[in-house]
Amino acid sequence: MLGLKLPTDPRWVNIVEKNIDEILTDHAYCEQKAASTAISLIVSFPEYTELVEEMIALSREEMGHFKMVHDLIKKRGNSLGRDRKDDYVIELIKFFPKGGSRTTQLVHRLLYAALIEARSCERFRLLSEELEDKKLADFYHKLMISEAGHYTMFLKFARKYGEVDEVNKKWNSLLEYEAQIMKDLGNKESIHG
Ligand SMILES: [Fe+2]
Ligand SMILES: [Fe+2]
Repeated sequence: MLGLKLPTDPRWVNIVEKNIDEILTDHAYCEQKAASTAISLIVSFPEYTELVEEMIALSREEMGHFKMVHDLIKKRGNSLGRDRKDDYVIELIKFFPKGGSRTTQLVHRLLYAALIEARSCERFRLLSEELEDKKLADFYHKLMISEAGHYTMFLKFARKYGEVDEVNKKWNSLLEYEAQIMKDLGNKESIHG
């Protein structure tokens, strides 16, 4: 459904279940970074009016998710921990060469964003299906639906602003590369790691 080439190993859910508090902090920052990405796209590409409109809405929605996760952290008697570096994203954004035309740079950023949303969606789905804590499973089910919408929106914009065949080729090679990253990571107590 998401085009991902390597499904998450279901054993990752066991790691999550043993580290819920760490996962929630990591997850909260994923939402914050999604909001920051939306704002940064507005600042970098202000002339793309339709994109700007959608990114305004998205940044609000992602901060809404951030609040949902933060509320859950508080309910569990904790406070938000410190952010840690996201090895998955660091590796991912090495894929496309830096530079190129403005449109090329925009397409690359949209494809990275689409992929991060797709992988988040896949992992939230797994959590919604496998977590023993049914309330938490429900929470992830709701978020999974939102992230699926974000993934398709970013891909739609990449195909709209770039040349479709070229975008599709790039998307496919990025998916292959991501599968390799997931082989090496994909087993840590974090949303993407
Ligand atoms: Fe989100
Ligand atoms: Fe999202």
